[in-house]
Amino acid sequence: MKLFVIAAGVVAVIAGASVVPGPYSAAMHVTPGGVALLQSAEFDPAARATIQRACGNCHSNDTEWPLYSRLAPVSWLIRKDVSEGRLFLNFSQWAAYGAEGQGQLLALAAGQVKEGKMPPQRYVLLHPEARLSQGEKSRLIADLERESARVSPSGK
Ligand code: HEC
Repeated sequence: MKLFVIAAGVVAVIAGASVVPGPYSAAMHVTPGGVALLQSAEFDPAARATIQRACGNCHSNDTEWPLYSRLAPVSWLIRKDVSEGRLFLNFSQWAAYGAEGQGQLLALAAGQVKEGKMPPQRYVLLHPEARLSQGEKSRLIADLERESARVSPSGK
């Protein structure tokens, strides 16, 4: 009986810890679905859909949180990914970067996709919908580079 009480206590503590929000939780629920991504950018709908699918969860305020993302300790890792991802590049705050910043970020993004660094492998394993075929990758790289050149023709 004693053992059972202790075991139940341990379970309760773990369950309790799981629902305690991570350090970023308050900032994490910003305007879900509220702001269109890449507002001023000229991407066709297919390119937008690809970016939303492959990058949007970490690089916009429009993050979809699956159930497992709410459970510690996974939640801490995921929140870290999203808060860092948004810090580097946030498609929901596109206008704030200005033309030059946008041009640089788009060029950087094209490079990351080219090198296979983005979307991160570990993410694609859990989110098969974010996987890009070779064709989708080439198209995305071309789209990112074209928009980069359009907003910031000097290449800076
Ligand atoms: C799992 C979340 C996640 C997804 C999905 C994701 N990123 Fe990232 N991204 C990050 C994080 C975290 C960083 C910052 C740390 C790093 O470079 O690993 C980052 C950094 C970046 C950077 C800055 C790199 C640098 O060196 O300054 C660019 C550009 C970028 N991502 C583009 C993309 C693009 C384009 C996509 C979609 C094709 C994408 N990311 C998908 C999490 C993500």
